[in-house]
Amino acid sequence: SLEGYESFMIKEIRESWGAVRDTIAGLMGDVEIGKAVKALDRARRVFVVAAGTSFHAGLIFSLRLLRNGKTVIPVIASEHEFLETDEDDAILVISQSGETMDSLLALKRFKSNGSFVISLTNTLGNSISSYSNVALHTRAGPEIGVAATKTFTSQVGALLLLSSMIIGESIDYLKEAETVVANSFSKSIGYMEKIGREVANKSSMYYLGKGLGVPMAMEGALKIKEIAYIHAEAYPAGESKHGPIALVEKGFPVIFVNTGELVDELRNNLKEMQSRQARTYVISAGPELKSDSETREIVLEVSDPRLTTLALAPPLQLIAYYAAKERGTNPDRPRNLAKTVTVR
Ligand code: F6R
Repeated sequence: SLEGYESFMIKEIRESWGAVRDTIAGLMGDVEIGKAVKALDRARRVFVVAAGTSFHAGLIFSLRLLRNGKTVIPVIASEHEFLETDEDDAILVISQSGETMDSLLALKRFKSNGSFVISLTNTLGNSISSYSNVALHTRAGPEIGVAATKTFTSQVGALLLLSSMIIGESIDYLKEAETVVANSFSKSIGYMEKIGREVANKSSMYYLGKGLGVPMAMEGALKIKEIAYIHAEAYPAGESKHGPIALVEKGFPVIFVNTGELVDELRNNLKEMQSRQARTYVISAGPELKSDSETREIVLEVSDPRLTTLALAPPLQLIAYYAAKERGTNPDRPRNLAKTVTVR
């Protein structure tokens, strides 16, 4: 039930830090994660298969492993037919529902090629986990809102843990995960409401980031399209000058997602947008981007750079939520969408 909240979406965003805590604790106490780490570590190539928001969580995982020398291939589930795997490959399927048809079909085909399959889902006894060699779970609890919120943040938490174990680094930093998400939410909610209200009457906007900020920008753009029906695109910030900037005119909203990676370059992209009179907003989970007193920026406190993606999840979800609220659309039941997509 709504328990006094205005919508499931806001209730579930508020449940996200507890969900991240429970997910990480659950996985740390799960013998299956050791099997997953072993298989992923041994594999010649790792294919990460997912759709939508789960794909964005998969991109974060993929980037972290790629930077540590692992061969990782992120696969949009509905595009799986164009790729082949073999018995030296491991597959990681990420799906909140565990029932997404494209992801399930990809899993079955890659498994029939002899590849070892690991899944990360948010329910017990779903189809995807039942076909997997190793089934891992996020522990976000039921998510009623159609848009993925706390399940996404939990996937990111789970995948930070999994990638750290594969890389062989200390996982101590994850002790702060819950606090970082909770603080980010409370620090940003007021400002995100303001951004959401300001962009609500716009028809188009950009989300720009660098490094791990790119999948977060993609997630921000997906969420606002889905919930508030505002056209939004995400780009690696440097790519914006290769075409997208042509659309930018006075007042065009551009949200910069700053993870603290390549800050000077990102700041240059910000200045480019400001010189086109874009309406820029910066959400920083790293060093401040601010170039002048005009820049609207919020700086989140993050105890470890590896927690930046977790910190950025709530603010990006909140922008979409408040934009939808301002437009009078129901954030829990976006048109044309189903919570679980069981058709191709
Ligand atoms: C967006 C959203 C969808 C799902 C996608 C995959 O908010 O919820 O993009 O992420 O349909 O769903 P799962 O994770 O159930 O496979």
